[in-house]
Amino acid sequence: MNDGRVAIVAGCRTPFAKAGTAYRDLTAVDLGKACLRELLERTEVDPTWIDTVVMGQVIPSVKAPNLAREAGLGAGLPAGVPAHTVNRACASASQAVADVTGAILAGHAEVGIAGGAESLSDVPVLHSKKMAQALLEASRARSWGARLRAFAKVRPRDLRPESPAIAEPSTGLTMGQSAEKMARENGISREEQDQIAYLSHKNASAATADGRLPAEMCAVFVPPRYDVVVSGDNLLRPDTSLDALAALPPVFDRKYGTVTAGNSSPLTDGAAVVLLMLEAKAKALGYLPLAFIRSWAVAAVDPGGQLLMGPALAIPKALERAGLQLSDMDLIEMHEAFAAQVASNIQALESETWARDKLGRSAPVGRVDRERLNVSGSSIALGHPFGATGARITTTLANELARRHGKFGLLSVCAQGGMGFAMVLER
Ligand SMILES: CC(C)(COP(=O)(O)OP(=O)(O)OC[C@H]1O[C@@H](n2cnc3c(N)ncnc32)[C@H](O)[C@@H]1OP(=O)(O)O)[C@@H](O)C(=O)NCCC(=O)NCCS
Repeated sequence: MNDGRVAIVAGCRTPFAKAGTAYRDLTAVDLGKACLRELLERTEVDPTWIDTVVMGQVIPSVKAPNLAREAGLGAGLPAGVPAHTVNRACASASQAVADVTGAILAGHAEVGIAGGAESLSDVPVLHSKKMAQALLEASRARSWGARLRAFAKVRPRDLRPESPAIAEPSTGLTMGQSAEKMARENGISREEQDQIAYLSHKNASAATADGRLPAEMCAVFVPPRYDVVVSGDNLLRPDTSLDALAALPPVFDRKYGTVTAGNSSPLTDGAAVVLLMLEAKAKALGYLPLAFIRSWAVAAVDPGGQLLMGPALAIPKALERAGLQLSDMDLIEMHEAFAAQVASNIQALESETWARDKLGRSAPVGRVDRERLNVSGSSIALGHPFGATGARITTTLANELARRHGKFGLLSVCAQGGMGFAMVLER
């Protein structure tokens, strides 16, 4: 066991790009490598000090399923630094932060890197089951005749390729349909969703213009000739307006819905990492921590109910473990999968019924002060590379807490499978 706290020393991310655009020809490993390399350079950390690397990825590559290992080796970490990849859906990078923190507290490590990467431009495209069986059978066949017979059962419809759906395996509902369900059942208006989306763009635009967010980014040189450099997010819309958002058609329930391309997080490519150290080690090496990890918690709800309500259970758990109240938080970072999910979770945190029925408490968890919420924007404006978002949020929260001389910060991430993650940072 190690005594002391776990320090967030630094963090950085790639610029985030809409899937199929700037990083179309890159893999998640390429993106992870780019920001790992940047973290090492910025912090001048000696790679031999690193005891572990944990990264998240939600839709792994079939060729390189252990993203963390490949990105670590590619970034020039010594071969003796172990690395593994975790999947807690959209909270994967947060889980990576928790795993490295746990390893440091357990005495298994003193310095670690946590983060994640995702390329939705590079998702595996699969053959149908019938086609895959035929290909395997043909590869084992000993004659041309047997090879041909293997394909005899394949029908034209079996030739259609399959790619992963952004859907809940146990219910078949897409994330967007689940957000629609939450908006409908919780009475979240289209206006409220568009207001959340508008503020996301407005706050992220301000944090981009004044250099706060660019300071967290590395430049990505795009192969094959490395003469194209991506140096900024390409999803942000500084000029969006409430009127423009209100004019967008609903996507997931075209007739009666309220969830649009404007109030959903977009499909995104990107990577993000943070450097974590035992407090005493950071001090001994001369690093000034941005913040410390005070507590964290995960929770889960029935995916067949309201899918993205996990944060409203994880937040009170993390606060309780921290011995703090929601009102103690100087800043709150809530990942925005959809504005409807943010509004639904805030509604639950402020609700007596939720407190009584789900938490067995007489009073609500507390009021979410919108002035302290997502002050640098969030995933609707910036994008949401599933495996990386948790690390982006950790870095931004730690930096902003330090900038404001705040004491406590809370972050939450909702995830597929009905899960939620929350973490409390302190300074
Ligand atoms: C919602 C979704 C289907 C939209 O995808 P898309 O159609 O590629 O989105 P686009 O960026 O092309 O936007 C559609 C239109 O809305 C417009 N638009 C989007 N955001 C806007 C904004 N803030 N202001 C003004 N216009 C906007 C675009 O300009 C585009 O207009 P056009 O059709 O005239 O070109 C896709 O982003 C998605 O699936 N998101 C959810 C991802 C998800 O499930 N994540 C899991 C979270 S748990």
